[in-house]
Amino acid sequence: MAYVITEPCRNCKYTYCAAVCPVEAFREGEDCLYIEPLICIDCNKCRPECPVEAIYPDYEVPSIWQNWIAENAQKSKHSPPIIDVKPPLKKEGCINSEF
Ligand code: SF4
Ligand code: F3S
Repeated sequence: MAYVITEPCRNCKYTYCAAVCPVEAFREGEDCLYIEPLICIDCNKCRPECPVEAIYPDYEVPSIWQNWIAENAQKSKHSPPIIDVKPPLKKEGCINSEF
């Protein structure tokens, strides 16, 4: 089991999630973050930090975003770690940029 970042993160990238992870499981892609599933310990700390509710445990990922499970597993291997908050991306296409 692992936690998974999904579509609402894309173009938003608030990064609050990455700063609370005790095992540094977050990786930074261009438009969103990813969670490295082999590192995640399922602590649930990140989930409530996300203002756009982009994070799910893998067994709760909505069916339309199931592809994000593999996406996190693959892309996290080729993306650099992120452990601190950065200014959000909030670019056009961010589904919720009011935060
Ligand atoms: Fe990190 Fe815990 Fe979130 Fe997994 S569930 S990514 S260990 S904060
Ligand atoms: Fe993305 Fe939410 Fe984290 S928008 S970067 S999953 S706080």
